[in-house]
Amino acid sequence: MEEKAKNSVHVLVIPYPSQGHINPMLQFSKRLSSKGLKPTFATTNFISQTMNPELLLGSDIDFDTISDGCDQGGFLEANDIDDYLVRLQAAGSRTLTELVLKYRNTPHPIDCILYDAFLPWALDVAKQFGIVGAAFFTQACAVNYIYYCAHHGVLSLPVSSSAVPIAIPGLPLLELRDMPSFIYVAGSYPSYFKMVLSQFSNVDQADFILVNTFYKLEQEVVDSMSKVMTPPLLTIGPTIPSVYLDQRLENDKDYDLNLFKLDSTSTHWLTSKTPGSVVYVSFGSMANLSIHQMEELARGLKQTGFDFLWVVRASEIAKVPDGFAEEMGDRALIANWIPQTEVLAHEAMGCFFTHGGWNSTIEALCLGVPMVVMPQWTDQTTDAKLVQDVWKVGVQVEVGEDGIVSRDEIEGCIRQVMEGEKGKAMKENALKWKELAVEAVCEGGSSDKNIDGFVSKILTQCK
Ligand code: UDX
Repeated sequence: MEEKAKNSVHVLVIPYPSQGHINPMLQFSKRLSSKGLKPTFATTNFISQTMNPELLLGSDIDFDTISDGCDQGGFLEANDIDDYLVRLQAAGSRTLTELVLKYRNTPHPIDCILYDAFLPWALDVAKQFGIVGAAFFTQACAVNYIYYCAHHGVLSLPVSSSAVPIAIPGLPLLELRDMPSFIYVAGSYPSYFKMVLSQFSNVDQADFILVNTFYKLEQEVVDSMSKVMTPPLLTIGPTIPSVYLDQRLENDKDYDLNLFKLDSTSTHWLTSKTPGSVVYVSFGSMANLSIHQMEELARGLKQTGFDFLWVVRASEIAKVPDGFAEEMGDRALIANWIPQTEVLAHEAMGCFFTHGGWNSTIEALCLGVPMVVMPQWTDQTTDAKLVQDVWKVGVQVEVGEDGIVSRDEIEGCIRQVMEGEKGKAMKENALKWKELAVEAVCEGGSSDKNIDGFVSKILTQCK
């Protein structure tokens, strides 16, 4: 039997509806398109209303929608996290089924559902129609493996302080605070914890498992997890806009689908700064700091004497101390949302003060920028441990007894990264990881080969 023509292999991509999950899956869709497949990216109805119409017109990939049961207000329309996740699964499964049926009698029926592993019900829909199902794990392999161990009882829950340090094959010994927060802060966010464990409820029925990391970055844990998982893990990352990794790669400049209003003045501001002189500060798309913590952060940044670019989302801006932006003048730019990879790739960049979200971490690492990590919750606590002790590209802040990271601690950590021999070593390590990331995604690299393998196997399965 003949293989289907490549460009008629239709992959329906279903991200979890938040910025940190949309970005890597949208970039990966672009990569599949560059490999000749036909991806359709399906966001929720609510998110599709915020999308830039130019994206819809100028893109190589198609867009469509499913529902999360909150079409008017998204997550904020639900009563709480529990309610949101229940609605997402019910409306998501129903509308995903309708979407598959809609394409069934067209020249381009769906051949494969590539779904965020947070949404295992999408695999059930794929299986119901007998089409290929591919799980996409957006977070670090280390974090996925810890959840795998928790799901399979290898790690007994709740993890108590008497059980530390915790030994998981492929990972350094972990203290409680190094575990993902859903484990470390027992009982916090039970619905999210249930969701991250449910990633493993049916994944053995998936045809493919893709992980947004690269092999040399997490070699030991990828090998450990591969021994216990079927189908085998395919590392396919980093999925960051490729022009910043290597000019030879296709001209893919940004994430394109921003859920926040983009302020593009940051690049111009950076141009006036000397190389390696700026601290970039961001806590991603979800974290909310207390007013007290924002005050300490502002004062700590001021104390360093360095110039800084600080992303403060509109919902958080009232927490910035009164008159702080004026006080700082041209030393600081406070912006709502900026093109982060472009900023990280800028020669003025000296250090990234980050919450350690997986995308931010892998972006900084692959663009050669050392970090200060101030994790807030979820996988960020584990990412912080890896940044400091395994990849050695940054330091993690110490939280005070009052639960606050003090201005002096913030200043001290930034100085460690920006100044002195230790800072130089972290920068050198970051540049080494950058090289390895480029090697992984360029033609013939580990991630590129895995993507090629994925594409060719889909082709044979979709005869
Ligand atoms: C969340 C979790 O925090 C994270 O740990 C998990 O792995 C994914 O979901 P988020 O908090 O938003 O994500 O952090 P992160 O993973 O770092 O993703 C943020 C994304 O937004 C990054 O791709 C970053 O480049 C982008 N971003 C951030 C911008 O484009 N502009 C900004 O101003 C800030």
